Amino acid sequence: MSTHAQELKTTAQALVAKGKGILAIDESNGTCNQRFANLSIPTTEENRRSYRKLILTTPQLSTYISGPILFDETIRQTTRNGKPFVQVITEAGMIPGIKVDTGAKDLAAHPREKVTEGLDGLRDRIAEYYRMGARFAKWRAVITIGEGIPSQACIDVNAHALARYAVLCQEGGLVPIVEPEVLIDGDHTLERCYQVSDRTLHTVFAQLYAQGVAFDQMILKPSMVIAGKDCPQQPSVDEVADATIRCLRKNPPATVAGVAFLSGGQSAEQSAAHLSSMNARYQSICPWPVTFSYARAIQQPALEHWRGEGQRVAEAQQRLLHRAKCNSAASLGDYSSEVERELALV
Ligand code: G3H
Repeated sequence: MSTHAQELKTTAQALVAKGKGILAIDESNGTCNQRFANLSIPTTEENRRSYRKLILTTPQLSTYISGPILFDETIRQTTRNGKPFVQVITEAGMIPGIKVDTGAKDLAAHPREKVTEGLDGLRDRIAEYYRMGARFAKWRAVITIGEGIPSQACIDVNAHALARYAVLCQEGGLVPIVEPEVLIDGDHTLERCYQVSDRTLHTVFAQLYAQGVAFDQMILKPSMVIAGKDCPQQPSVDEVADATIRCLRKNPPATVAGVAFLSGGQSAEQSAAHLSSMNARYQSICPWPVTFSYARAIQQPALEHWRGEGQRVAEAQQRLLHRAKCNSAASLGDYSSEVERELALV
């Protein structure tokens, strides 16, 4: 058992506390620059710093967000007066998190498939992040659906790496967020996504168990069971919620501290509606809290408003807070299009 066991349990529970979710702002420089470039925002370190500061200093964010996940560059950055972002986060009453994988790379001998890297030197990096004040971590594995894929080899290597990462985190005092993302790209049906998600989660939990991960000291960050974005038959909100909960109830053990979904390219409203339907209809039969750990579905409206301009910060923060509130409502099963509008007026 990790010497940090009690601290890990407390942190894990705080991350999925009632009405709260996690905010992912851990885009690598490459991904962040791409999102900036799409909006003609100059792709400089200073702009990445200003944007992350805008997010982290949003008034009242901690009412709805338990913790933000940072990228390595961000955890080393400060406000203009030199206050480290980790201190900004803890003073606001949130828990700092850190992405520790180093990205999904092509999987040898398996065209179109990826394996996530970052295990070399991870024990030392975890120790450094813990000293800097991080208390939870994230590792994202990517599973692609297509003709003849995913291969079992791709699922196996990613599950193995997720488990190696998770035990190292627990040893070093960071709550691992275990993120096996089944991509929404493609024209696959909901049923196909269900089969792949089920096989992936089954393999991931077998590896987590085999490698000694403490389930009550981790959080699962899955994708929803949803049709591919190019599938001609798009399921209803309740169909997505039904299939997702059906798949989840077969897989993570009841002792897992929480389930916090990624948004995966769904629109902001869609991801809130799906989460809300799950909680409204199934909260009473789920053994773990079911909440959000979104990036795009919370950030996008704020980023689109900000566009790198200082005088637009306050309005951008309001847009960010609005999405955080809507998803908080969704985590309680209380989100609807009326709530979406009402919360915008508050
Ligand atoms: O790894 C992915 C992020 O943490 C979640 O991002 O909500 O934009 O899919 P997303």
